[in-house]
Amino acid sequence: MTQDLKALVLFPKEYFERYEVISRYGYDEYFLSQHDKNLKDTFESFVFCGKADSTLRVLAVGTSDGTSDIQIIDTLNSKYSSILYVVVEPAESQVQKFQTLVQSKQEAGLWKNVKFDFHSITVEEYLGKTKIGKEPARFDIIHLQHCAYHFADIEGTTVELYGRLNTGGMLFILLVTGAWEQMLLRMGNIVPESMSSKLGSATMRKMLQRRIPDVKMQTQYRKISFKFDEGFKENSEDGNMMLDFVLQVLDFRKTAPPEIVGDFMKFFKELCYEENGELYFPADDEIITVIKQ
Ligand SMILES: C[S@@+](CC[C@H](N)C(=O)[O-])C[C@H]1O[C@@H](n2cnc3c(N)ncnc32)[C@H](O)[C@@H]1O
Repeated sequence: MTQDLKALVLFPKEYFERYEVISRYGYDEYFLSQHDKNLKDTFESFVFCGKADSTLRVLAVGTSDGTSDIQIIDTLNSKYSSILYVVVEPAESQVQKFQTLVQSKQEAGLWKNVKFDFHSITVEEYLGKTKIGKEPARFDIIHLQHCAYHFADIEGTTVELYGRLNTGGMLFILLVTGAWEQMLLRMGNIVPESMSSKLGSATMRKMLQRRIPDVKMQTQYRKISFKFDEGFKENSEDGNMMLDFVLQVLDFRKTAPPEIVGDFMKFFKELCYEENGELYFPADDEIITVIKQ
């Protein structure tokens, strides 16, 4: 029964263990090269429409331990004298690591222009919380790096976040695309809606075009991969963790019916490619930036 499959995101410890495995097999290499450059270029060229002396307001969603925010904060800190950086990340252990990172940066004399505001809750809880009784908080930049998959109502929440931007503000969305998106869509068709991560950048682009009239959007496609030989080895612990992370299912090989495991392994074979005798899973992604009209 596919009803027995469990959504990985509901198990934070196991989720981050599996994320660490794909990072070890090469997924994180792009952070060291192209990702930081892409972030620097995008956030440097952002045009702030607020008054020259006003505070730049940033909402950072699903940040994990803050590693993928470092370049963004460095870039903004060098450009603006006053920044409010609101972090919304439900995994408490990750928020604590982010707070430790901030402390060490500020002790080293960095990030002096940034005031941080941490919330260890989901984005849905955050939006609900700020709605009651007062004017909802607005932002100049909202970023969602590889986290919109996990929103309970992806479409509603993303559109609501767009609505929380000041005019001229930027919604920055990073999502997998290509092979990985196909995997998620295939899984989304066989699991209950409540545990589905039916999303990649192509789906998000179409949704934004449908929901936001005359949406002003730019995209940047990036070729990324990680080694996947282990994924085909039934008894490989790392391999099984890789499968779990790509499919966003806890203990996929152990809990899915054999015919479903077989079907997905066949699909993995079709999507992986060989280079220098090693198999790679194409983990391409896409940056979408939307400017609020
Ligand atoms: C793949 S990680 C991405 C981490 C980081 N942004 C990066 O790009 O490396 C996804 C993050 O989204 C968080 N998350 C899961 N559900 C969420 C929700 N409903 N609202 C906000 N964040 C969520 C997870 O805890 C996790 O830290």
